[in-house]
Amino acid sequence: MLRTINATRYVVPLREGGSLPAIVEGDDLGLYVVKFRGAGQGILALIAELIAGEIGRALGLRVPEIVFAEIDAALGRNEPDAEIRHLLKASAGLNLALDYLPGSVMFDPAARDAAAADEASMLVWFDAFAQNVDRTPRNANLLVWHRKLYPIDHGAALFFHHDWATMEAKIASPFKQIEQHVLLPWAKEIPQAGAAAREKLSDGVFERIAGAVPDAWLNAIPGNLSAAERRAGYVDFFKRRLEAAHIFEQEAMDARTRII
Ligand SMILES: Nc1ncnc2c1ncn2[C@@H]1O[C@H](COP(=O)(O)OP(=O)(O)O)[C@@H](O)[C@H]1O
Ligand SMILES: [Mg+2]
Repeated sequence: MLRTINATRYVVPLREGGSLPAIVEGDDLGLYVVKFRGAGQGILALIAELIAGEIGRALGLRVPEIVFAEIDAALGRNEPDAEIRHLLKASAGLNLALDYLPGSVMFDPAARDAAAADEASMLVWFDAFAQNVDRTPRNANLLVWHRKLYPIDHGAALFFHHDWATMEAKIASPFKQIEQHVLLPWAKEIPQAGAAAREKLSDGVFERIAGAVPDAWLNAIPGNLSAAERRAGYVDFFKRRLEAAHIFEQEAMDARTRII
């Protein structure tokens, strides 16, 4: 379901990002922000970016198109910067990329940016569901483009997959970190967002998304589970977290009453 592009040119690094993402041109002449497989965060960040990003899209959020980006070992050969050269060399093969939104700016409440209640509520619901801690006022990972909101950077979501053995305990987590969410002040329709999310998400949606993760990435996770077992684990986690959604919905509503 995801397209694959071949990277034809390394354009420029995005220095503000911790994982050294960069703008790269594809053989379809599009520009993409590539999250490199060889970056320090490792393969789990790419898997989270794909799975959480596609769940966000299934919820109707404007996640920029996600594609696979094939990087040839020769791409970085002439890069003057040694760090970039090494990163590209370590990333030969399949990487993940997002459609680049030129001229977008980061959502910033201090600059009087505001959000609609329904969209803010769905974004809060989504981040609590996917357990994404990376949507704080300091680091919103929410782009404003043509006056609309585009959530990016889901590499830190799904924190359960860093410790597969403790997954069980995290299914019903209230996700206390939601109190830091940049859109919480606007999220006054969390029950409605939850009802809409239950309409949109299903076993089939989770299976389709888990099915899009390449075997090679799942096999690169330390441990001895097969790719099929990992996929089934993700699907099972999301099914059961959806059943337990009332717990994190209540937490988000309580956190909101504390801050407004
Ligand atoms: N699709 C995109 N379009 C435009 N700019 C982007 C896009 N994705 C990321 N960026 C810019 O690059 C920065 C780093 O990307 P991000 O995905 O947040 O990576 P990191 O994990 O390093 O924080 C973002 O803060 C944003 O400024
Ligand atoms: Mg970021």
